[in-house]
Amino acid sequence: MAVDFCVAMLVGFVGFVMGGLVLNHFLPLLLNLKLLGLLPKGTFGWPVLGETLSFLKPHPANSVGTFLQDHCSRYGKVFKSHLFFSPTVVSCDEELNYFILQNEDKLFQCSYPKPIHGILGKISMLVAVGDTHRRLRNFALSLVTTTRSKPEFLNDVERTVVQILDSWKDKKQINFCEDARKFTFDVIAKQVLGLTPDEPQTKKILEDFLTFMRGLISFPLYIPGTPYARAVQARSRISSTVKSIIEHRRNHAGNSSKRSDFLEILLSVNTLSDDEKVSFVLDSLLGGYETTSLLMAMVVHFLGQSAAALEQLKLEHQNIRSMKKKDVLLSWEDYKKMEFTQNVINEALRYGNIVKFVHRKALKDVKFKDYVIPSGWKVLPVFSAVHLDPSLHASALQFHPWRWETQDQTCKKFTPFGGGSRCCPGSELAKVEVAFFLHHLVQNFRFEIEDNDHPIAYPYVDFQRGLVLNVEYCSI
Ligand code: HEM
Repeated sequence: MAVDFCVAMLVGFVGFVMGGLVLNHFLPLLLNLKLLGLLPKGTFGWPVLGETLSFLKPHPANSVGTFLQDHCSRYGKVFKSHLFFSPTVVSCDEELNYFILQNEDKLFQCSYPKPIHGILGKISMLVAVGDTHRRLRNFALSLVTTTRSKPEFLNDVERTVVQILDSWKDKKQINFCEDARKFTFDVIAKQVLGLTPDEPQTKKILEDFLTFMRGLISFPLYIPGTPYARAVQARSRISSTVKSIIEHRRNHAGNSSKRSDFLEILLSVNTLSDDEKVSFVLDSLLGGYETTSLLMAMVVHFLGQSAAALEQLKLEHQNIRSMKKKDVLLSWEDYKKMEFTQNVINEALRYGNIVKFVHRKALKDVKFKDYVIPSGWKVLPVFSAVHLDPSLHASALQFHPWRWETQDQTCKKFTPFGGGSRCCPGSELAKVEVAFFLHHLVQNFRFEIEDNDHPIAYPYVDFQRGLVLNVEYCSI
C-alpha cells in the first residue's frame, strides 16, 4: 500500500514535471502567436530535450559539425530550435552575432545554464550581470592593462616556459596537453596569488581546481559523490584557501612590498568585498587555465602540419634572439616584434575555435533584419560558424596564417574572445604566454605530432589523446 502510494506519488510527480517541461516546450509558441510569422525558420525537435543532443554531438573543432551544417543549409544562418530546455535562436550570422555582443545588458544578457551558477557562484564575473559585472570587469581590465607589459609578469612567464621545456630535454614523447595545462596553471597561480609550483598551497588549489573543472562539464546532479557535487565542494575549499592567503597577507602587510601579483592589488582596493575578491581570483584561474593551454595545443597541432609556417616562425624568433645578449629575458618590445607569431596565434584561434559559442538571452522582443527574437528566448551566437564560413574567409577550411598579414583582426568575422562589454579581459595575457612559449619551443626542439589526435568540440574542445608529441632537443 505504502509502496503503491509512493509509486502513484512518483508517477504523479514525474507527470507534473514532464507536463511542465512539455508545456514549457510549446508555450513560447502559444504566447507569441503574433510573432509566429516573424520567427526564424527551424524546428523545436523532441519535447523537453528539443535538439540539445544533436547540437552537442562531438565533431572536429575545425569544422562546424553536422548539426549546424544541416540546419544552416535547411533554414539559413539564423534559425530557431529548442536547446538547454529553452526555446532558442541560434545565430551563425556575423552581423547578428556582432549585434548581440554589442547590445549586452540592453537587448541581450549573458545567461549561462543555472548549474554553472551553482558552481561558479553568483558573483563570478562570468555570470554576474549589471552593476556587479561592471565593477568586477573594470577592475579586471585595469589590472590586465598594468600587468601585461610589466617585466615581472613577462619574466615569470618566460622562466615557467624554460622550466617546462627543460623537463623535455631527456624525453622522446610527451603528452602536450598535460604539460601545457601545468604551464598555464603555474603562470596564472603565480600571477594571481604569487604562488610558486612547489608550495603546498599551489598543489592543494590545483587538486581542488581540477575537481572544480570536472564538475563544470558534468551532469548537474547535486547528490553527494557526483562530480557536480564534488565541484561545488571544491569551490568552497578553494575559497577557504584563498581567504586564508588573503588573511595571511593582511597580517604580514609591509613584508611584501616587492610583490606585484593580482592579490596585492586586490587587497589595496576597497570597492570589492572579500567574497568578490575571492571570486575574482577564481575567475582568473578558470579563465586563464584551460583556454590558454588549449590555444598552445592548437598552435602546436596546426604548426605540426604546416612546415612553411613553422619555418617562418623559427626565422622570426631566431632573428629576435640574435638581437639580444645571451640569457637576457624577453621584453614587451620583443613581444611587439613577433608579428608572424601573432598571425599564427590568430589563425589557430580562428581555425581551432576554442570557444564555439556563448550563452545569451533576449531581454525584450528584438527585431533584427526580417525576423524577431522573442523576449526570454535563449540566443546562441556561434563563433565557429562565422570563423569557418567560406563566404567570409578565403580557404576557410585551411590553416593559413598569412591571411592575417592583410586582414584586420578586430573585425566582426573574428571573435575568438567574444565582444562588446563581455569581451575577454585576459586575451593579451594568453597571447603573451603562447608567444613566449613558441619562442623557446621552435628554437630548441624538433617535434612531430602523432596521427589521429585531433581537437574535438564536445563542445568544450579537447584532444582525443591529449596531443601526443614526439620531441627531440636540438638547440640551435
Ligand atoms: C586563448 C585564451 C582565451 C580564450 C579563447 C578566451 C575566450 C573568452 C570568451 C569567448 C569570453 C566571452 C564569454 C562570454 O561572452 O560569455 C571570455 C570571457 C572571459 N575571460 Fe577569457 N579567454 C581566454 C583567456 C583568458 C585568460 C588568460 C583570462 C584571465 C587571466 C580570461 C578571463 C576571462 C574572464 C574573467 C571572462 C569574463 C569576462 C566578462 O564576462 O566580462 N580569459 N573569454
